[in-house]
Amino acid sequence: MAEIRLVNVSRTYDPVGRFDRAAGRPRGEAGQQYDRAFADRMAAQAEINRPAAAGRVKALDNVTLTVADGETLAVVGPSGCGKSTLLRVIAGLDTGYSGEIYYGHENVRDVPVKDRYIGMVFQNYALYPHFQGRGNLRFFFQVRGAPDAEAEERIRITAEIMGFGFSQLLDRKPGTLSGGQQQRLAIARALVRNPKLFLFDEPLSNLDAKLRTQTRIEIRRLLNRFSITALYVTHDQVEAMALGDRIAVMRDGRIEQIGAYDTLRNDPNSAFVAGFLGPRPMNLLAGASDGDGVLHVGGFSVMLPPSLRLSSPAGRGVTLGVHTDDAVAYEPALPAPAGPRVKGTVEMIEPDFGRRQQSIFARAGEFTFSLVTGLEAGWHVGEEIEVVLPEDRLYFFDTESGARLR
Ligand SMILES: Nc1ncnc2c1ncn2[C@@H]1O[C@H](COP(=O)(O)OP(=O)(O)OP(=O)(O)O)[C@@H](O)[C@H]1O
Ligand SMILES: [Mg+2]
Repeated sequence: MAEIRLVNVSRTYDPVGRFDRAAGRPRGEAGQQYDRAFADRMAAQAEINRPAAAGRVKALDNVTLTVADGETLAVVGPSGCGKSTLLRVIAGLDTGYSGEIYYGHENVRDVPVKDRYIGMVFQNYALYPHFQGRGNLRFFFQVRGAPDAEAEERIRITAEIMGFGFSQLLDRKPGTLSGGQQQRLAIARALVRNPKLFLFDEPLSNLDAKLRTQTRIEIRRLLNRFSITALYVTHDQVEAMALGDRIAVMRDGRIEQIGAYDTLRNDPNSAFVAGFLGPRPMNLLAGASDGDGVLHVGGFSVMLPPSLRLSSPAGRGVTLGVHTDDAVAYEPALPAPAGPRVKGTVEMIEPDFGRRQQSIFARAGEFTFSLVTGLEAGWHVGEEIEVVLPEDRLYFFDTESGARLR
């Protein structure tokens, strides 16, 4: 078990590394198999890549972060923001980074992958196709020349942990297993080595919704039972909430914010985090200050909080944020909270029968706006709706930098 600590870790990629422009053919082995069609394809690819090629890609940009012993850190962020790179440098699969990485007190820069006791599970299961399940689990011990008895004992314990129905997967080759079964095997293969650290890279994204929930429960059980330090990359925010003790939101190679889900949701430090974190991201409405303490947003205006008035000259871009479940549909017969009102047209209704709620998406001028109401509130597409934004539930962000102002 170990705490994982990254200090100022950066990783930069040269995006044209595979094509030797001067020679007009790919570098290395691929270049030796050079043929005309391949060259054309590569040239076309280089063309597509050109904007990126102008500057090197900073896949990780000065990342400093600590994952506590036994903690599960969920990592989310848009495609290409550096999540897989983060896992690869921590695993030691990519050593071209600057900065330092520690497992406990040990700097692992020179520790080979096989000595790191990491269990890794990826989106594509990467099982050995010619071995049966048992062979896949045993392989790790064979490579190390561990005694058979030790391997068998670990496999027995792992099968027990993996639970009902797992043992029968051990006698089958991966090609004969379903996606979900293969993924269980991949998780077991990571577990059998008694890892100090678990790294998951979107392990469930190929599974259907039901299997995903089921496997998610299995992973949660494993993490609870062993309190193994883990990083869990996912595009599924519900999964991030369910599995992560904390969530790190990444953007362009940087950690934008890290914290418990509640903190990120109720206290986002940027418009990016507020607008990214689901399942229902915050409404963000860009407006401009009039210099006298009033923010004009599309068809309505709102008083800026006193602390922002002095620092907001005329024309300053300020973005107003409000959570979908804080906004309320205005009904004249009912008491409404104090706050500005926005008029719009209902464009789409998304029912959530499980929670007995619905999300209403309305068009208000140039904005699409969403709010959550009970299922019984009968709204229809095309209807006019008036929404109250409770003034004590408003967030303010600097439009230019995205930083939270209040
Ligand atoms: N081997 C490589 N050579 C060049 N560029 C790379 C390489 N690996 C990653 N990159 C670039 O680094 C950036 C981060 O990639 P990474 O795979 O870490 O993203 P990600 O957050 O895992 O994305 P996704 O959600 O799509 O899996 C991207 O811009 C990617 O194109
Ligand atoms: Mg990735």
